Amino acid sequence: MAKTGMDIGAAKAFLEAGDVVGIPTETVYGLAGNALNSDAVLRIFAVKNRPSFDPLIVHTDSLEKVGQYVTHIPDAARKLAQTVWPGPLTLLLPKRDTIPDLVTSGLSSVAIRVPNHPLTLALLRSLDFPLAAPSANPFGYISPTTAQHVADQLGNQIPYVLDGGPCGIGLESTIIGFENGLPTVYRLGGMALEQLTAIVGPLTVRDHSTSNPKAPGMLSSHYAPRKPVFLLQPGEQPDSVDSQTGGLVFREPLPGIPLDNQLVLSANGDVVEAAKNLFAYLRQLDNLPLTRIYAQLLPNEGLGRAVNDRLKRAGWSDRSAKSPL
Ligand code: TXA
Ligand code: MG
Repeated sequence: MAKTGMDIGAAKAFLEAGDVVGIPTETVYGLAGNALNSDAVLRIFAVKNRPSFDPLIVHTDSLEKVGQYVTHIPDAARKLAQTVWPGPLTLLLPKRDTIPDLVTSGLSSVAIRVPNHPLTLALLRSLDFPLAAPSANPFGYISPTTAQHVADQLGNQIPYVLDGGPCGIGLESTIIGFENGLPTVYRLGGMALEQLTAIVGPLTVRDHSTSNPKAPGMLSSHYAPRKPVFLLQPGEQPDSVDSQTGGLVFREPLPGIPLDNQLVLSANGDVVEAAKNLFAYLRQLDNLPLTRIYAQLLPNEGLGRAVNDRLKRAGWSDRSAKSPL
């Protein structure tokens, strides 16, 4: 069973030995291993039960170090990195041979970011290699936002979880790639579109329903709880409710659903607070004896857009459907 603690030295020792550990970031917890060590990278895929065609994000502690791993940094990428890092933004950049093909699933670009968490930044500074780290959840399940979430699901397979407290943002990083130097959003996330636009101007957003996704994270049916989740537009009422119905609501409980089965993402209507609570609340509802969960979509602005993206991937709108899992 994994130990959980704040011992950066312990995490460093396991990583240097080629093992994988849970690490905190401002977005979600990661399952980290030496990105330059193919055995450690294989171990990450095995622990998560992740298909090898789904590439990993490489984490480092400064923009200066990124030059060791990529051949070129477009101007827009440099501007974004200088403004946002350390922060919830991942950039897709052309990779150098230093990054094993396993990390990028054979793609010629590598996903890279500098996370904004003091423990993990200190850990990265103490290592002489970058960390490959997907979210520390079994493939397809809800991302973890506390050390306990990681220990609950992967604790029997990893030696250590570095505990940095609950994640401040609670949604995975926004992923941006560059087509002819122009920034394109491949995954909505912890950095709001409005903020990115203020830095580099208008961005193209690739919808996750696209048939040939560049980032496998764009595939739908990711982030799914085990229970069926039905989406409600703001103001829409659930159509079939009983004592085993749950609700994940934005500002206030829905009429008809037992109050004990409902979690309010932000009583103040704050989309940032809602984002921070999203995955933990979805997990909590998934662990209650419920047969279905109604989830209310947020206003499509700021982080509300990314919350809605995750809810859409967790849910499905056909209410007559049986559970997919
Ligand atoms: O906030 C985050 O990004 C967290 C923390 C731990 O940093 N990590 C995370 O990793 O969400 P993961 O593996 O759960 O999601 C990474 C997404 C995947 O959908 C993957 O397909 C995509 O990034 N990705 C990684 N490398 C890529 C590449 N070279 N080209 C396109 N997509 C890539
Ligand atoms: Mg993930």
